[in-house]
Amino acid sequence: MAIQRTLSILKPDATRRNLTGKINAVIEGTGLKIVAQKRMQLTQAQAEAFYAVHKERPFFGELVSFMISGPVVVQVLEGEDAVQKNRDIMGATNPKDAAPHTVRAQFAESIEANSVHGSDSAENAANEIKFFFAEIEINA
Ligand code: TYD
Repeated sequence: MAIQRTLSILKPDATRRNLTGKINAVIEGTGLKIVAQKRMQLTQAQAEAFYAVHKERPFFGELVSFMISGPVVVQVLEGEDAVQKNRDIMGATNPKDAAPHTVRAQFAESIEANSVHGSDSAENAANEIKFFFAEIEINA
């Protein structure tokens, strides 16, 4: 498997509880490298655009409100099989279903306030990275 990049977001429940260092330690513990990172306050328009794929889902409005309820940390992770590796350490969407030791099992508050986002395919990763970062901001 080649070196890949994926987009990760530490969500407002994580920044609010000062968990960014603990989550980054889990990420770095897998061997993935954080090659870009910034803390941002998303606007409603940015959150709606980022989650546009979910706009017909019943939870869309609440998801957008949650994502703008405080700052997020957006990051690019790089490494071998990065997309799947990050999905594996995130755990299932609902923390009740997440395997022990995953980020969501350890830290998530609920299915909505579930601490992290991670791209779910290489194609989505490329688009999501472009949404937040210029190539000049990504440094391996
Ligand atoms: P999804 O892409 O299905 O999950 P994942 O983040 O694991 O890739 O959903 C995106 C986000 O939408 C999810 O992280 C939290 C929120 N969400 C809800 O609030 N309620 C729900 O029932 C689902 C399925 C998702």
